[in-house]
Amino acid sequence: MENKSEQNSDQVNEQLIALMNLLKSRAPGGILTSFRSPQVIFGFTALNRIKNYLDGNLEEEERRVLIITDDFTEKFAAPISNVFSKINIVSKVWSGVKPEAPIDIIDEAVKMCEDFKPRVFVAIGGGSVLDTTKVLMIKYEKPETNLFTVSALEPLGLRKKIKYFIAIPTTSGTGSEATLASMLTDINTDPPKKFTVSHPELIPDYAVLITEFVQDMPPFLTMATGLDALTHAAGSYISNIGTPFADAMNIYAIKEIIKYLPRAYKYGAKDIEARSHMQIAATMAGLGFIHSRVGIDHALGHSLGKVLNVHHGLCVGMFLPYTIAFQMKITERWKDLCPLFGIDTKNKDNNELSMEFLRSVKEFIHSIDGPVCVKEIKKPIITEEEYYKNLDLLVNYAETDPVAYMVTRYIDSEVIKRIFEYAWDGKTIDF
Ligand SMILES: [Fe+2]
Repeated sequence: MENKSEQNSDQVNEQLIALMNLLKSRAPGGILTSFRSPQVIFGFTALNRIKNYLDGNLEEEERRVLIITDDFTEKFAAPISNVFSKINIVSKVWSGVKPEAPIDIIDEAVKMCEDFKPRVFVAIGGGSVLDTTKVLMIKYEKPETNLFTVSALEPLGLRKKIKYFIAIPTTSGTGSEATLASMLTDINTDPPKKFTVSHPELIPDYAVLITEFVQDMPPFLTMATGLDALTHAAGSYISNIGTPFADAMNIYAIKEIIKYLPRAYKYGAKDIEARSHMQIAATMAGLGFIHSRVGIDHALGHSLGKVLNVHHGLCVGMFLPYTIAFQMKITERWKDLCPLFGIDTKNKDNNELSMEFLRSVKEFIHSIDGPVCVKEIKKPIITEEEYYKNLDLLVNYAETDPVAYMVTRYIDSEVIKRIFEYAWDGKTIDF
């Protein structure tokens, strides 16, 4: 843990603003001139294959694996350690990750690492587990690092202690298994504040997609995490930065999500094909947005999620039609997505087509029982009085969210407030 005087998550904003200034166009340039990805291993043999990779690449004295989980995903540690034990790997489990990835718990894991000296991290879980592991890697390898001043443009010098970082997602949504970003919570501010640590060295070496680990997700989680993936792909496709590699990932991810998310939601573990395609789609969407950026839906969604305790994916998915509509004034990239939603674009003017597209996005969200406005959210139910009572706080959180600096079209507190107002009962953005 850093000295408290060093800690200031507001510093992150200044760094992000500077970074975002390097990313002002779709033309390949600046830091978006490479395509970074973990080695993605999927399919029925995925676990066996990662075992074989480790067997071939770890020396006998290096065979120590720390498995990182939370309370919920701890149950997946045993199947992994059993397979690894066949190649003489000794595994230990740290299951101390907490929701929203608060940074104060990392010291405990660092201490465990100092005693056990693992050479491999295997993170099994949703976004909080994977994001916590990324930062654990920094604090174990480079304890002097101030998390709030990590610059993606300067080397961190990791992988001296941890030879391989393996990410095994247990939801199909965050894309964290493929990204360089870690979304954390600074609990030393009042109220606690979200902040992001992004660095290419945080990209896992392997993203292992084991379908059995996601097949039993309940319908609500399937819907909410699937909407998160859709929002990553659609939000970043429409943004004004990116590369052809990002576009390819995003377009294919959207196609897969439209086809397979309704099936995964409806049939759950009975439709393994849909589950497997959703895993791949979520990872591709992660690769898409990390080579572009997420949309402002994430600034609004982070705020709503934190203030009124709503699931991240549900929030960002709900805001997607609003933020697409808001950006229609300055980009026509949304038109590329029309055919994916089965819309015939011929002989339609912009107005007609944009309305049809927004309607299709909302229909898709409704088809999996997702909300398209705040008053449709069922978990938890939010009253109009409660929503408007918190409006200023919602605006403040959204405006100061790091993602707010990634806007394609300029936003300020007035614009954010209007979007929140429109989102209460589903009014179509007309400004
Ligand atoms: Fe997200």
